Amino acid sequence: MSERLFIFDTTLRDGEQVPGCQLNTVEKIQVAKQLEALGVDIIEAGFPISSPGDFNSVIEISKAVTWPTICALTRAVEKDIDVAAESLKYAKHKRIHTGIGTSDEHIKYKFNSTRDEIIERAVAAVKYAKRYVEDIEFYAEDAGRTDNEYLARVVEAVVKAGATVVNIPDTTGYCLPQEYYEKIKYLKEHVDCIDKAIISTHCHNDLGMATANTLHGVLAGARQVEVTINGIGERAGNTSLEEIAMILKCHKGIGVDTNINTTKIYPSSRMVSGLMNMPVQPNKAIVGRNAFAHSSGIHQDGVLKNVNTYEIMDPKDVGLDDNSIVLTARSGRAALKYRMSVLGVDVSDDKKVDQIYEAFLRLADKKKEITDDDVMMLAGADRTASHAIKLDFLQVTTGMGVRSVASIGLDISGQKFEAAATGNGPVDAAIKALKKIILKQMTLKEFTIQAISKGSDDVGKVHMQVEYDGSLYYGFGANTDIVTASVEAYIDCINKFKIKKAE
Ligand code: KIV
Ligand code: ZN
Repeated sequence: MSERLFIFDTTLRDGEQVPGCQLNTVEKIQVAKQLEALGVDIIEAGFPISSPGDFNSVIEISKAVTWPTICALTRAVEKDIDVAAESLKYAKHKRIHTGIGTSDEHIKYKFNSTRDEIIERAVAAVKYAKRYVEDIEFYAEDAGRTDNEYLARVVEAVVKAGATVVNIPDTTGYCLPQEYYEKIKYLKEHVDCIDKAIISTHCHNDLGMATANTLHGVLAGARQVEVTINGIGERAGNTSLEEIAMILKCHKGIGVDTNINTTKIYPSSRMVSGLMNMPVQPNKAIVGRNAFAHSSGIHQDGVLKNVNTYEIMDPKDVGLDDNSIVLTARSGRAALKYRMSVLGVDVSDDKKVDQIYEAFLRLADKKKEITDDDVMMLAGADRTASHAIKLDFLQVTTGMGVRSVASIGLDISGQKFEAAATGNGPVDAAIKALKKIILKQMTLKEFTIQAISKGSDDVGKVHMQVEYDGSLYYGFGANTDIVTASVEAYIDCINKFKIKKAE
């Protein structure tokens, strides 16, 4: 009989901290419902004290989902805990996740404190949180670099104070798998009351070891893992949910099982990637475009003879089940709707599906085959419908040995503006024309163009970062015309800050 491992998903907290990945409340609810369908046990819904948006999202997610425990993050600070408790008031099952840095680096440089004082603050926070909620998780931030003897003292003190889960984060992604294993084992063997709490892993991927470390934590006795969809998260990211779920499914001998419905993995990955505009690297384990693509002749030959020659998992087990329906200009609304549902897009609103279908037909006129990425892009396109600034038209003349010329039309809250400019290329000309209408001191900091899959008729995706008034804004555009996609991405950035119209 396998032992149960609890899956704690922090896509909406640690994942959402990634610059450019911020979601609005409606999008967070969509992700939370998908996580519920996926079978996640605990959803970390936000850090409520950090912003009114986070506070509100925890409230709305609490109302929207039923089975998973909703968790809110705090520092070991009373005000944080008060706000977290308030944000959780509608949750059917609730948890407060409080904690403090325990490594010498954190104690000295972050808190200018001492080891004993940190234990006092940790205990006080747990006791304070316990006044509101029974289920309290304590995180010992930077536990990866905390000396094991001291960490055991911290863990023992917080469990005695009432912590039901103790989180041992490798915050900086520093540990080696064996080292992390020893850390968890040390706590199991040296903390008196450790059987009164569940030990949790929370591993970052700075050295590419997040999944290995998490697995070693589980092997040493951790029974909760903190993970994100596609492994998104601070810096190099967190442990990815899909990797841990599939490792445990493929290696039954480990004797640990999760509640994850693995056939929902692929749709969840597409949803998070689409909503956060965060591409999944093609060779990403489990969910990357090439994860099940056999390209070498020898491999293809083997797979055709027997899939077990080169496949350790059935693609159907991760939800990659139906690519057999090719979407083209002749596909009907039903085929598109089915594909959208497979990809995790909400298809309950007929009016919205109709709009997406119209956009689908327009795109299908321009390119032969509509891919999953195209469908996700179309499903996300309505997010710009409420933008104050819209691209009305764009005309660019460009070529070899001549300066490019662009004329642009913008619709700003219903008013039309036009401008023209030249530049050293079509994007430069178009953005210079745009800047004649929108008079802001803004600087393009990053510009990434990515073809979604293949073919000269493909839709190009553009990610941009624009600096304005000391802050960075992230924008996204997608179009078969890469210059239009670039201008749309720039406008997406501008829509995120206040604009000033040209006289
Ligand atoms: O990485 C980390 O230490 C964290 C904690 C706040 C849990 O994200
Ligand atoms: Zn983290």
